Amino acid sequence: MSALKWWQTAVFYQIYPRSFADGNGDGIGDFKGATEKLDYLASLGVDAVWLSPHFPSPNWDCGYDISDYCDVAPEYGTLDDFKTFLNEAHKRYIRVVLDLVLNHTSDEHAWFIESKSSRDNPKADWYVWVDTPPNNWQSCFDGEAWTYAPERNQYYYHYFMKQQPDLNWHNPEVKKAMWDAARFWLDMGVDGFRLDAIGTIFEDPQLTPHTVPMNLAELRRFSELAKTPKEIKLKDKYWFEMFKHQYGKPGVHDLMKELRAILDEYEGDRMLVGEDDDIAYMGNGKDELHLIFNFPLMRTERITPAHIRKNQKERLGALENLPAEKGWPCNTLGNHDCSRIHTRYGDKIHDAELARLNAALVLTLKGTAFLYNGEEIGMTDHMLSDISHVKDTMGSWYYHTIVTEMGVHPEEAMLRTAEMTRDKNRTPMQWSNNPNAGFSPSGVNTWLPVNPNYKDGINVHDQEKNPSSLLQYYKHLLRVRKNSSALKYGEYLPLLNTSKEYFSFLRQSDNQTILVVLNYSEKVLELDFSRTKEIKDSKLRILFTSAERRGGSFAPNFKVGAFEVFIAEVERE
Ligand code: NOJ
Repeated sequence: MSALKWWQTAVFYQIYPRSFADGNGDGIGDFKGATEKLDYLASLGVDAVWLSPHFPSPNWDCGYDISDYCDVAPEYGTLDDFKTFLNEAHKRYIRVVLDLVLNHTSDEHAWFIESKSSRDNPKADWYVWVDTPPNNWQSCFDGEAWTYAPERNQYYYHYFMKQQPDLNWHNPEVKKAMWDAARFWLDMGVDGFRLDAIGTIFEDPQLTPHTVPMNLAELRRFSELAKTPKEIKLKDKYWFEMFKHQYGKPGVHDLMKELRAILDEYEGDRMLVGEDDDIAYMGNGKDELHLIFNFPLMRTERITPAHIRKNQKERLGALENLPAEKGWPCNTLGNHDCSRIHTRYGDKIHDAELARLNAALVLTLKGTAFLYNGEEIGMTDHMLSDISHVKDTMGSWYYHTIVTEMGVHPEEAMLRTAEMTRDKNRTPMQWSNNPNAGFSPSGVNTWLPVNPNYKDGINVHDQEKNPSSLLQYYKHLLRVRKNSSALKYGEYLPLLNTSKEYFSFLRQSDNQTILVVLNYSEKVLELDFSRTKEIKDSKLRILFTSAERRGGSFAPNFKVGAFEVFIAEVERE
């Protein structure tokens, strides 16, 4: 088992640089701040960080529109500040994985500026140019996918915003330039990359139009208003139909193989994790990506035992079947693109209990785990109420479109925008109950408003002092995981039941068997595992529980409390 790689047993922590820690007091996170918080991350017990883009960017898409792949955004510091961060992280045995955006650059990147300057410059073919829009394709963020550039009297393609032109990956020079950028960071010692939006790299060469009788804004609005099962089904169909010619097209595998080969040249088991559902991007199991997020686990309105069981069966089944080597799972429930776990999977009554159950789920299922900054203190979505505060451009574009083109009342438009924009889940990290949540000094305007609930104990400082806080719960759980071979790399053995109330499973390594029970109900349950082959005739020893319990060994028939997380080791004879 020692053959496992670091990224298989690791718990990753996603840092959203703009919102993580403000070291120079300007209202924006930076490397000085993040470096100061490394001891916090070490004490939390995470093994690696994934940094959302930290490169220079005009920030139309909060850094996912990169204008220089080999530098650091001035608001985050300098390249030296980054190196300090990296070295300090490594000193604490925390690996650092960067975000690599392959599909597009910023329209302010020197490559694009040159490409759009004329039809015959050396980079004329680095992006996707046409004389007239060949179809009705939409950008998934802001309307038409083809935007006019007067300099060339031509249109360029963009899957995301018009400020994010798609690179032409058929051009070998593009590949070379991007692989050089990857090497730049690998040479510096970063431990790998999270690959952004790989499914969008290639489009249908026939440029087949979509058949949805709406444009993007209309479809969004239709989706918001969809209520009946029929409407809901139709909106899902429309989303798929609208983008199916722009997504998941062949060619990406060859790129992934090339990039993997580059990483494999380096020592230290550098790794790649892909932002996609499709485990096909793991290739034969050892020639493309190391990990693919298990997004289907989080693509649900509610986390229920039935949903988890089905997800694990399908996901682990598929990973088992990669041709050369089994794939390794990778679980997460939240990131910078979606509503925060605490809000999204809460029921407004038992949010705190459900947050604990869901944390335990991600940290006990088989596979690498990814946490999102702030989740460990129970940060919640923060709904903006003023359009001038909205920073997520897809939100402000939508607001203005539905107000001006569809006549939606600005108040309603703001409510809808607050819900759909990703700003709600990107607010500054809540470090203390000082003004501005201790993120920035008092009186400073933070880049996004701070969620005022930092005053109600949702902050690191208060939770550090409170033994029953969510933060202490995460720390404890991370310690239990770290000390358990079964939780780190043991097999997952589903326990065959169909209960709607609880989800239970075993994790089994050579020298340890662990029983996990997650009671997703408000009922006290009487459970009996004495007929389970791996447990019968053994006693259980509690390793972790969210309830008050006495320690010691006990028989495998016992009660679990409402919403209890129960983790016990099966004692060997
Ligand atoms: C996925 C990223 O997670 C998201 O934040 C971004 O807007 C798009 N890719 C475009 O890069």
